[in-house]
Amino acid sequence: MNKHKKTVLVSGATGMLGHALCIALEAKGHSVRRLSRSASADVQWDVDAGTIDAGAMAGVDVVVHLAGEPVAQRWTDGTKDRILKSRIGGAQLLVGALLKEPTPPDYITASGINYYGHQCGVGVTEGSPLGDGFLAHVCEQWEGAAQPLKDAGIRSVSARIGMILSSQGGALTKMLPAFKLGLGGVIGSGSQHMSWVSLPDAVRILLLAIEDTSIQGPLNVVSPEPLTNRVFTKSLGAALKRPTLFPMPELAVKALFGKMGIEVLCADVGVLPQVLLNRGFEWEFTDIKTCFDACLAKQF
Ligand SMILES: NC(=O)c1ccc[n+]([C@@H]2O[C@H](COP(=O)([O-])OP(=O)(O)OC[C@H]3O[C@@H](n4cnc5c(N)ncnc54)[C@H](OP(=O)(O)O)[C@@H]3O)[C@@H](O)[C@H]2O)c1
Repeated sequence: MNKHKKTVLVSGATGMLGHALCIALEAKGHSVRRLSRSASADVQWDVDAGTIDAGAMAGVDVVVHLAGEPVAQRWTDGTKDRILKSRIGGAQLLVGALLKEPTPPDYITASGINYYGHQCGVGVTEGSPLGDGFLAHVCEQWEGAAQPLKDAGIRSVSARIGMILSSQGGALTKMLPAFKLGLGGVIGSGSQHMSWVSLPDAVRILLLAIEDTSIQGPLNVVSPEPLTNRVFTKSLGAALKRPTLFPMPELAVKALFGKMGIEVLCADVGVLPQVLLNRGFEWEFTDIKTCFDACLAKQF
């Protein structure tokens, strides 16, 4: 058996990132087990009930936890509860199961740049402190669920992911209808910083974290070029050849989307991928225009 070929259990494998990651893993010869709530999955779990198929971890080298209730929806008490519990409950279930293995697998969990809060400006790195807000609290607990692994000396990575750009889902597909109609515009003041990453680069960074066992701890999954919302908006309008004359003031964001809008759409979080920069990682997309062109051509 080739030691470089791993067996990887992926939660959230039906999601935008998980689906692309599983395809990339298989293309590199790794073996993938898709973990889902669906009965047709390789491995099934029920996070609410705290159950996972027996033998889920047998022979697994790396667990990647991406599953979680979508964040981009209006936050009621019920949705906030699901956003939190789907991630933390899922993490606790996985950590508990993998700790029972004689040779526990490595563990990589998704997290978000929201860890740093929603008003932290530019220059944020993996060494920056935890911020304020509901999503920072979610990220803290999501990452914190891996503490028993750290205590046991098992490798774990917290992938703090920025806004993933793709034509297949996520934030861009939500923005495109309005922008295509020429109804897009800056959000709030437009001066807030946005940290983005193309879907192919997000996948390549996760592959690196899976394959390179020297990586552990927090890992910012963003391009090295955060942008203001104004530049992002103008670039998307230019890529679509549409005007972007309809600003959405912060008050309107709050009225339409509530606290989610303030913490996500108006967030000022300019993150640097310091760990990746230190390692000399090469991004495929660092220029937003090239990334938008590739998304609009449905390359990813
Ligand atoms: N996309 C981004 O820009 C971005 C940015 C920062 C962080 N992240 C994080 O990265 C992870 C992957 O992102 P993604 O965009 O690929 O997410 P996604 O497309 O929304 O997929 C997430 C997956 O989680 C599972 N899921 C959904 N609700 C759940 C619930 N209530 N309980 C248990 N499982 C549930 C679903 O899998 P099954 O239906 O198969 O169970 C779903 O396919 C997420 O945790 C997300 O928060 C994403």
